[in-house]
Amino acid sequence: MVKLDLKTPNFTNENIEKIAELFPNCVTEKNNESGELERSIDFDALRQELSGSIVEGSQERYSLNWPGKREALVTANTPISKTLRPCRDESVDFANTKNIFIEGDNLDALKLLQETYLDKIKMIYIDPPYNTGKDFIYNDNFTADKAEFDEASGQRDEGGRRLVANLDSNGRYHSDWLSMMYPRLKLARNLLCDNGVIFISIDENENINTRKICHEVFGEENFIGNIIWKNVTDNNPTNVATEHEYIVVYAKSRAKLEPVWKSNFSDVKDILINIGSELIATHKDQGSLQKAYSQWFRNNKSQLGALDRYKYIDAGGVYTGSQSVHNPGKEGYRYDVIHPDTRSPCKEPLMGYRFPESTMTKLLEEGKILFGNSHDKIIELKVYAKDYLEKLSSVEILDGRMGAYDVRQLFSEIKTAFTNPKPVALIEKYLSFVLSKDDIAFDFFSGSGTTAHAVMQLNLKDGGTRQCISVQLPELTDEISEAFKAGYKNIAEISKERLRRAGTKIKEDNANKDGIENLDTGFRVFKIASSNMLDVHISPDETQPDMFDTHIGNIKKDRSSEDLLFQVLLDWGVDLSLPIIREKIAGKEVFFVDDNALVACFDEGINEEFVTQLATSKPLRVVFRDDGFGSGKNGDSVKINVEQVFKLKSPATDIKVI
Ligand SMILES: C[S@@+](CC[C@H](N)C(=O)[O-])C[C@H]1O[C@@H](n2cnc3c(N)ncnc32)[C@H](O)[C@@H]1O
Repeated sequence: MVKLDLKTPNFTNENIEKIAELFPNCVTEKNNESGELERSIDFDALRQELSGSIVEGSQERYSLNWPGKREALVTANTPISKTLRPCRDESVDFANTKNIFIEGDNLDALKLLQETYLDKIKMIYIDPPYNTGKDFIYNDNFTADKAEFDEASGQRDEGGRRLVANLDSNGRYHSDWLSMMYPRLKLARNLLCDNGVIFISIDENENINTRKICHEVFGEENFIGNIIWKNVTDNNPTNVATEHEYIVVYAKSRAKLEPVWKSNFSDVKDILINIGSELIATHKDQGSLQKAYSQWFRNNKSQLGALDRYKYIDAGGVYTGSQSVHNPGKEGYRYDVIHPDTRSPCKEPLMGYRFPESTMTKLLEEGKILFGNSHDKIIELKVYAKDYLEKLSSVEILDGRMGAYDVRQLFSEIKTAFTNPKPVALIEKYLSFVLSKDDIAFDFFSGSGTTAHAVMQLNLKDGGTRQCISVQLPELTDEISEAFKAGYKNIAEISKERLRRAGTKIKEDNANKDGIENLDTGFRVFKIASSNMLDVHISPDETQPDMFDTHIGNIKKDRSSEDLLFQVLLDWGVDLSLPIIREKIAGKEVFFVDDNALVACFDEGINEEFVTQLATSKPLRVVFRDDGFGSGKNGDSVKINVEQVFKLKSPATDIKVI
């Protein structure tokens, strides 16, 4: 039986494989540090293959470089032997939800998700530390000793790595930020599907470096846009009042992206539709309807933004008449359109009409042509607000304080649960341009959980089943903060509680909405932890007395069968959000993942009789504990028999052990 590896992929080896596919002659073998032979690249041969276009040594070239770049690449490629431990107590609707919340460092999370979510994510939104000279960033390579740690202002995880304040006095100020971002973006790119995109919030501090690093990771040809979000008013301007930040957008492959992005969602459009139907219900004749709407329009024009052209109303709703009927550039169709009041032909556009006469007749019958006061005015085409599709503009105007307002609505007991959350409406808007109804969104700097909240909100609007994966470090809250005093010791706690409350509120506020019972407001919580497996290379002075007790084998004592199950799902690349049913069969605990996609039993005493029952469900994959068959020769013969049972009863089943 094949033993599961339970480690994240080794990207260096994978890169060697890719080169081997293209240039098998450039792959050789050499002794590694432990004296074992391993595959490696013969650079002389590769140089020969690429002799026309290779750049050597210190020759000048266009590139982005910083001290630590090479280490950052190694960091991205180094495998880890960690796992995700499910946390039912902290989850909401663990059994049915498709949303995932991972607590831990996102570098680990990105590595752990490589197999399962490779090429699966449609949209990543991240809001990383902006490197303002005050915020904390994760120092990936730092192993502090105790004294150093005590001195430092940062925090440390179980691996001795720590969060450090990246002060602008630090000589490696930009380098450290780049070293933090580079491996994460590289790994994140792997998870995007071919027509996937990434949106990155950033401000002036690192906008240029974000563009440069993304040019390198995603490719210049995959740059989509740099959105300027006007979010604040600078009340103390120095030279230029800085009143915006950025959202940088890249595609995995621009060539595979939908050619046009238009969204059906716009809060302003909703306002127009609502006022339209209110007035239509109360004003029966066209004159008083238009008069009432014009009055409302004058009072509310400032909030209508791009929709301030919608100044007319008729029984079909609010509309603009600004769509031209001209034929642009070349000679169009020529015919008379008679004005309904003056009974004379209306003024014809210079190059004629853009529709043939038959189309015009239909538009006239449908009442979609807007006439001026007299025939001297060229007619226009009505466009109703309900049909408006918003384009994604490179300029966004939205008060940044909306984000704090959104969070405050959920945490009425504290004034500031989280500093500077993004507005839900902002993220929801971007999600609405990119995600189809069943796509997956991913935010690995999730903060207070705005992206997951926005996904729920968007699904509420259109009955979608979009999923969200969030990752947040349990970064400690400041002891003097209101959040800390209210009991939230770290940011992941705030994030989870925000999602619980947001989900409850959405369900309560929309209790009468059709299909609300199907809206997924749950999430499965996982925590990044050391592997479930005991390190078999433990030195004698590290062994603990109970370590070799009875049957413990290679699995840590404090790990549950559900912990093992999720490690197997990760390793096998099986979706972590699939439904899981736990059943007792012949007294043993068996997990059925998505019916028979994977069946697991980590109990002891696996025998032919039990396995014969399991095989009747014809699982695609089945997994047991290596020591579940017993030890020694007896265990080996049970294993062989079990394999035989599957060969006979369910030959397609892939059997593995951990
Ligand atoms: C600017 S905030 C994101 C705010 C979020 N967009 C919102 O609306 O609430 C960035 C977050 O990333 C988290 N973070 C920083 N480094 C991280 C890491 N290595 N892994 C996971 N989260 C990290 C920080 O704790 C912080 O909460």
